[in-house]
Amino acid sequence: MTSKIYAHRGASKYAPENTMPAFQLAYEMKADGIETDVQLTKDNIPILIHDEVLDRTTDGTGFVKDYTFAELKKLDAGSWFPGDFTNTKLISLEEFLEWIQYKPLYLNVELKNNKIDYENLETIVFDMVKKYELMDRTTISTFNIKSVKRLKHLNHKIEIAYLTSKQDKNLVTEAKAMGANAIHIHYKLLNRSLIKKSREYKMNVRVYTVNQYFLMKKCYHLGCTGIFTDIPDKALKYRKK
Ligand code: G3P
Ligand code: MG
Repeated sequence: MTSKIYAHRGASKYAPENTMPAFQLAYEMKADGIETDVQLTKDNIPILIHDEVLDRTTDGTGFVKDYTFAELKKLDAGSWFPGDFTNTKLISLEEFLEWIQYKPLYLNVELKNNKIDYENLETIVFDMVKKYELMDRTTISTFNIKSVKRLKHLNHKIEIAYLTSKQDKNLVTEAKAMGANAIHIHYKLLNRSLIKKSREYKMNVRVYTVNQYFLMKKCYHLGCTGIFTDIPDKALKYRKK
């Protein structure tokens, strides 16, 4: 099986993570898919940003949840990054889905609800993916076990991934029991027997964050379903070889 290459937060080595320039680059580089992170604003708009707080990747401070979408739109989410990205804006999940709708890209929407368990985030995200008719190429993932279970109750068609970096010899069966149909694992958890077991249980396996060639090689050779990488251009070139 050919491993699909997902641009992690967009092509985030080359442009500010989770912003339009990073997504656009991933598309131009011909990545197979894009991974992005979702938090919820004060007015319940899902917005694409990795951290619960604004400080690292914008010129704002404090929690995302304490601001309305309109307020967050005023921030600069590009200046922190080397190069000329001044005035790059945060975008909503809806803006992202509108953009990706007619592009041949897989999507992984990661719910960032393991630190703040945002109320109704699963329903809000799921309904939006459905509205844009993207169910068959979207995976919704989360580190939050309760959230995996809630997603499972919500819908049986969309792919749900349990995200983890914890060593656990029963990972595949436990994720399956939660209701996941995929596992998204830190690269240190990857080994041949995990892949074998995941095939037995018909679970997809994607690996993060794969930025080094020896890790790409391991993922490609073992036949992982996908990798998340900040350098999709290099991962694609290497896969060709
Ligand atoms: O979804 C894979 C990966 O993005 C999970 O970790 O912290 O980069 O969102 P993180
Ligand atoms: Mg992520």
